[in-house]
Amino acid sequence: MLKQFATAALLGLGAAGGIAGAASAAGEESHTVDVDFSFEGPFGVYDQHQLQRGLQIYTEVCSACHGLRYVPYRTLSDEHGIGWTDDMVRAYAAQYEVFDPELDDYRTAIPTDHFGESSLSNAPDLSLMAKSRAGFHGPYGLGINQFFKGIGGPEHTYSILTGYTGETREQAGTVLYENHAFDSGWIAMPPPLTDGQVEFADGHDNSVESMSKDVSAFLMWAAEPKMMARKRAGFAGVLMLSVLAVLLYLTNKRIWKPIKHRHAAEHRES
Ligand code: HEC
Repeated sequence: MLKQFATAALLGLGAAGGIAGAASAAGEESHTVDVDFSFEGPFGVYDQHQLQRGLQIYTEVCSACHGLRYVPYRTLSDEHGIGWTDDMVRAYAAQYEVFDPELDDYRTAIPTDHFGESSLSNAPDLSLMAKSRAGFHGPYGLGINQFFKGIGGPEHTYSILTGYTGETREQAGTVLYENHAFDSGWIAMPPPLTDGQVEFADGHDNSVESMSKDVSAFLMWAAEPKMMARKRAGFAGVLMLSVLAVLLYLTNKRIWKPIKHRHAAEHRES
């Protein structure tokens, strides 16, 4: 990736000077599509139904290769998340087996166990994927866009899932798929989604775009299930500091009042 970055910068420099070079290097980010997610902004919240669809897509499609090993099943019944009941979580976990070192054997999974590890060795674990990839870097690599659009983790996932061109090539025995959202332009993951692949109980849209958005939102939640609590704490903090600032201002005025008055009086006398 670095190499590609450098080449792009060099080409740009050669072609039209410094600014254009920076622009063409930063141009990589144009492959990340900006998506409006419900959880963006200071008051944004997760869309429970979207997370439920995302979980279904992960379970039926992505989990064939990718693990979520840092995410315990019990998170599925957390507040402000997927909103499942404890019974639903227990039933979901019970579909899986985990290796228990104490029993030295496999047993049925329970809510405190974690989602499994990646079953395909070259498929990365997705637990923290949405927080480990920045979709937005610009302008000129300064990252200022992140203030307005967010880090772009879920957008990166969305862009990968919808970024296939249909071209393939073989390299050292593996098939690579052309994908403009992936750094090298060629990814080893075959296009995982096709229109209509997953059926939702409520008949929700199951186009590739819609499913990509849902599963990206789900992976953001998996990486940061406490986002709502963090935002609320942040807001409470700002509110508290504002009240404190007003009180300090008033106290300050009051403390200095007699002195200022005396001053003014002295001035009048002289
Ligand atoms: C057939 C196996 C397979 C399936 C199914 C699959 N993936 Fe992948 N995925 C891979 C592999 C292999 C890679 C590593 C690609 C590489 O490094 O070139 C990968 C990489 C990724 C990446 C990382 C991209 C990056 O920037 O490094 C994301 C995100 C991802 N997959 C999401 C998903 C989602 C979401 C699903 C379900 C809709 C899914 N994958 C289904 C095999 C799979």
